Amino acid sequence: MKTQVGIIGSGPAGLLLSQLLHKQGIDSVILEKHSRAHVEGRIRAGILEQGTVDMLDEAGVGERLHEEGLIHDGIGIQFNGVNHRIGFKARDTGKTVTVYGQTEVTKDLMDAHAARGQDPFYEAEDVRISGIEAGTPTLKCLFQGKGLEVQCKIIVGCDGYHGVSRQSFPSDVLNTFERVYPFGWLGVLADVKPVSEELIYNNHKNGFALASQRSATRSRYYIQCELNESVEEWSDDRFWETLIHMFGEEVGPKIETGPSIEKSIAPLRSFVAEPMRYKSLFLAGDSAHVVPPTGAKGLNLAASDVHYLTEGLVDYFSTGSTSGLDLYSDRALARVWTAIRFSWWFTHLTHRFPENETHGMAYKLQIAELEYLVQSESAKASLAENYVGLPF
Ligand code: APR
Ligand code: PHB
Repeated sequence: MKTQVGIIGSGPAGLLLSQLLHKQGIDSVILEKHSRAHVEGRIRAGILEQGTVDMLDEAGVGERLHEEGLIHDGIGIQFNGVNHRIGFKARDTGKTVTVYGQTEVTKDLMDAHAARGQDPFYEAEDVRISGIEAGTPTLKCLFQGKGLEVQCKIIVGCDGYHGVSRQSFPSDVLNTFERVYPFGWLGVLADVKPVSEELIYNNHKNGFALASQRSATRSRYYIQCELNESVEEWSDDRFWETLIHMFGEEVGPKIETGPSIEKSIAPLRSFVAEPMRYKSLFLAGDSAHVVPPTGAKGLNLAASDVHYLTEGLVDYFSTGSTSGLDLYSDRALARVWTAIRFSWWFTHLTHRFPENETHGMAYKLQIAELEYLVQSESAKASLAENYVGLPF
């Protein structure tokens, strides 16, 4: 089989890239390790920057998002038991965020692929990349028990942090930067009314907690946990009790509780691999960089990579010019580092690190910075500008 762009992975990065290329008349094939149900079943963050929403519109998959997504113009920052609002001043910046789960984005993109009869090859086993040095980029895998070979002009690794594409770069080409945080997030999804109209990021003396949502009737809550804890140790009752306690007297009693639909623990990591291209092999999304979920930048960064890469690929396939492709890694990484910085800062501002005792210096400094943040117009504007997404 031959295609212009061979894509590994059908997460948001791979699906969005393929759909945008299709709109521009460029052909692609996606090889995905898991089943559609497995990919759709993963619960991830749910905050879309305006730039991401615009790209989903461009890809022709924005309809349900506009019907069901909730537009938010601010967030709450809670500390010392008091919740403070930081508005995005959409009237000045023209920017808001849309609350719409990554799961739903993935479904909409998968439906668009199915509707044009070009499903990804789901459950493609043992995907391998070859021919990069020789200039004959090829993907090989096992599909339904038989060998499948895809000859490509370009290969894009959208296969997440654990994928094969980054590992296929020669080791002397890649530079990696990594911080694994000494805690995780325990997340619960439940069909209960959100506690507040807007998200609340809470620095409690026992750790971080977040009140998020998916709709007017579905909430997503997180609390900071130890890395060695397991979900079995967290009954629904224990989770709600802890969460209500952490949200304090003002917000806690308003939290509606109910049976969890999903409960999981996620580790937190900041990671960047540079460059994002080797010859005809490109990386996009989590295969090249991972952010901690504080600020929900993961999916939005995958979208900005896809934006720069689509521009380069369209130029290349229509005129033969490689200038956009040659600039891709530098352009994408410049924006990646801004989000790495922001999510790092937001994580350090709101979480309890084991090295800080509750009443130690680091906690005092967090509170001083939070006080400054909620009082200073320029500090609030800086958070808002990053939260709604820096321009492409
Ligand atoms: N072969 C084929 N597919 C693979 C392989 C492989 N060897 N390894 C991983 N994959 C698939 C995974 O099954 C997954 O469906 O690649 C896909 C990667 O998707 P994501 O992890 O969702 O990554 P990405 O598309 O870059 O999206 C970034 O989504 O994953 C979240 O937190 C992440 O929000 C961020 C955003
Ligand atoms: C979520 O709703 O899952 C979510 C929202 C905001 C974040 C992280 C996760 O910063």
